[in-house]
Amino acid sequence: MTATYDSTFKRSIREPDAFWGEAAENCHWYKRWDKVLDDANRPFYRWFSGGEINTCYNALDLHVANGRGEQTALIYDSPVTGVVQSYTYQQLTETVARFAGLLASQGVSKGDRILIYMPMISEAAVAMLACARIGAIHSVVFGGFAAKELAVRIDDAKPKVVVSASCGIEVNRVISYKPLLDEAIRLAFHKPGTCIIFQRPEEKAALVSGRDIDWADAMVSAHPHECVPMSATDPAYILYTSGTTGVPKGVVRDIGGHIVALKWSMKAIYDVDPGDVYWAASDIGWVVGHSYIIYAPLFQGCTTILFEGKPVGTPDAGAFWRVIADHRVKTLFTAPTAFRAIKREDPKGEFLGKYDLARFQSLFLAGERTDPDTLKWAEEKLWVPVIDHWWQTETGWAIAANCMGIEKLPVKEGSPSKPAPGWNLQVVDLNAQPVRAGEIGALVVKLPLPPGSLPTLWKNDEGYVKTYLEEFPGFYKTADAGFIDEDGYVFVMSRTDDIINVAGHRLSTGAMEEILTDHPDVAEAAVLGVDDTLKGQIPVGFLVLNAGVDRNHGDIVREVIQMVRERIGPVASFKVATVVNRLPKTRSGKILRGTIRKIANNEPYNTPATIDDPAVLDEMAVALANIGYAAGKNS
Ligand code: COA
Ligand code: AMP
Repeated sequence: MTATYDSTFKRSIREPDAFWGEAAENCHWYKRWDKVLDDANRPFYRWFSGGEINTCYNALDLHVANGRGEQTALIYDSPVTGVVQSYTYQQLTETVARFAGLLASQGVSKGDRILIYMPMISEAAVAMLACARIGAIHSVVFGGFAAKELAVRIDDAKPKVVVSASCGIEVNRVISYKPLLDEAIRLAFHKPGTCIIFQRPEEKAALVSGRDIDWADAMVSAHPHECVPMSATDPAYILYTSGTTGVPKGVVRDIGGHIVALKWSMKAIYDVDPGDVYWAASDIGWVVGHSYIIYAPLFQGCTTILFEGKPVGTPDAGAFWRVIADHRVKTLFTAPTAFRAIKREDPKGEFLGKYDLARFQSLFLAGERTDPDTLKWAEEKLWVPVIDHWWQTETGWAIAANCMGIEKLPVKEGSPSKPAPGWNLQVVDLNAQPVRAGEIGALVVKLPLPPGSLPTLWKNDEGYVKTYLEEFPGFYKTADAGFIDEDGYVFVMSRTDDIINVAGHRLSTGAMEEILTDHPDVAEAAVLGVDDTLKGQIPVGFLVLNAGVDRNHGDIVREVIQMVRERIGPVASFKVATVVNRLPKTRSGKILRGTIRKIANNEPYNTPATIDDPAVLDEMAVALANIGYAAGKNS
């Protein structure tokens, strides 16, 4: 009998040991696990304890051993430099083994941290896989972050080595990475011993004598290194993500669960087989890049694509279709914002006519809710299933998805379908009690979380419990609110914290507020995520100035915008702020963010009963109108 979604899901919850044990049989182990699910130290559940395994072996060497050595493993396609470069599994294994040898020659071994600050070039993938090969824990930092953010991550992860490149290329601008790295190391308390720098032809970086090594020079004499057997419960990587303050959270992924869950997901969720071409158009600095540019497609023996370009402007709105056609892509995974950008430039989809998309079979979207307009446009133009799926940096793979390799369920607009196998998702009220179908509440996952999700935060078990497990005992708090309808479809409505989603990137408004209030003229500030037709949301800042400040408001606004760019980075997309006399607050002093957001989004709103002074809402409406936001009506 073929498995249905229902039977697969139920089995994954009722018999997790049998379910994930079977999935693990498809991976290469040096030593079999003692226990599939180890719950000896609750709430710190561990998967495959006692097992020994290596991430890089499962991503590369295994396929060479199984006769896939000549198949293309990785295609680097860079419209910004005009380079397209392919590696077979054999070639990628050899390059990674040599880079692993280079790391080892710098004294790197099991458990050491390596920080990777790289643009979207093949060397970034090589560096990640080389860390995995020798059991070093990588922490990749997205290129759009500023030196200060990089410094915070250096201080938390304490890397022995940093791997970086001279520059990145944003459409047609060269972004110098090396000065950002130098500045970050200057700011950080922890000083990495070595920096390995890949010099790109577009810009050569000055190297610091005694600390910096040129990638290409060092690779000449590097000796290949074998894969090191690792404990399944050892950390594979740390990926920092925005928390509710300026201090990012170091999400840890363990080795065994990560391999098992991701390999399983390729068939079950994406319906992708070995030999298929799979493309996640994201960045290696994000979780999507970790899971679905690098690891999962390689675990599955697919060809993966590393694209250094944008959906528009590199050179036009046909870039995605060109890549799909050139490399015979079966499955594309990206964020809805990329499709909104394409749709805005080419509403009729005229570029599609120029390319042969015969092999293209499905589009997966995540990072933010897929709005019905984007869903319909993509379905109409592409003629393939368009699948919204919901996940988080913490979870590593989809919490809810239409599992195309198990059973394709009917699509409901606005819903990422049903919980994926392994995720016992529930909706609860503030007392952790289940609510009725269709009622909005907190989306929580009953413990244990499935393999591949976070076992803890880096060196911060207490923070893990406090952030995710304390509020709803027995559950993991996703910090998303939503509901599950009568048919079991999940609807993710909003975050319950101060995180906003800008172009599929997760940002903390709290972190931005901390920066704004650092400005000497600013007494108080609020930053809110306001709807944006391209990026989903953009941050908008409201500044209350110190008494007596009589400087030009425009100058102060420009200065705070620059401060956010310098401290968080261009990725924050913080470009709009305004000065107000006061912020609307409750009588107990809480800023009424929900109401301000409604005004800015031109939605009807009610004056909250707890408001300190209702007149302030009219003042906000005027302030918003001054910066181009049609203010909502007080209903
Ligand atoms: N290095 C340095 N700077 C970077 C960068 C990087 N790796 N990535 C982005 N930036 C900069 C951009 O140049 C831009 O700078 P600017 O303010 O000087 O123009 C800023 O950070 C904001 O970038 P972004 O949010 O990507 O906006 P954009 O206007 O350049 O592009 C989209 C908008 C929609 C085309 C783009 O966000 C996109 O392709 N998103 C979909 C794919 C995706 O990344 N998904 C992530 C999760 S799946
Ligand atoms: P990140 O950790 O950057 O992947 O961001 C995770 C957050 O993005 C989630 O908690 C959601 O708020 C949002 N998100 C991601 N995917 C979806 C989706 N398909 N639908 C709705 N929200 C999503």
